[in-house]
Amino acid sequence: MNRTLVICKPDAVERGLVGEILGRFERKGLRLVAAELRLIDEQLAGRHYEEHAGKPFYGELVTFITRSPSLLLVVEGPPDTWQMVRTMMGATNPADAPPGTIRGDLGNTLSENLVHGSDSAESAAREIGIFFPALVAGGH
Ligand code: RTP
Ligand code: MG
Repeated sequence: MNRTLVICKPDAVERGLVGEILGRFERKGLRLVAAELRLIDEQLAGRHYEEHAGKPFYGELVTFITRSPSLLLVVEGPPDTWQMVRTMMGATNPADAPPGTIRGDLGNTLSENLVHGSDSAESAAREIGIFFPALVAGGH
């Protein structure tokens, strides 16, 4: 799997940072395969974040991700591109993310940490199928 799903979350769109974030992936040499500004509804959020269902922060997470449109991206690069993207994002909590990473440079809040990236090859395949089923079925 050399593709991965990236979500520029509602805070990134609201703050006008999607150009900055997308530009970093482009400058890294990753290729844009799909891009769509879309309001994630509760059903889609539930599928995407099913691993977190029942956790104390789940309600806040769904409220946040559904509050305004996100920029959904599929990017492609070398094998394990999902890992390259995660490295560029930095730690989940922006307080722990080093300078040079997206969260380290641009974020300061755990619940509003700007970006999502698939966390394994299996997650990448699953999440691309959730948000861009035509990509999987059509084999672009
Ligand atoms: P994401 O899925 O959004 O890319 O983030 P991640 O893999 O780095 O982190 P994950 O463990 O999947 O958690 C998903 C999102 O839930 C929020 N969170 N809050 N209060 C808490 O303890 C807590 N833990 C996680 C974060 O906003 C995280 O991005
Ligand atoms: Mg995650």
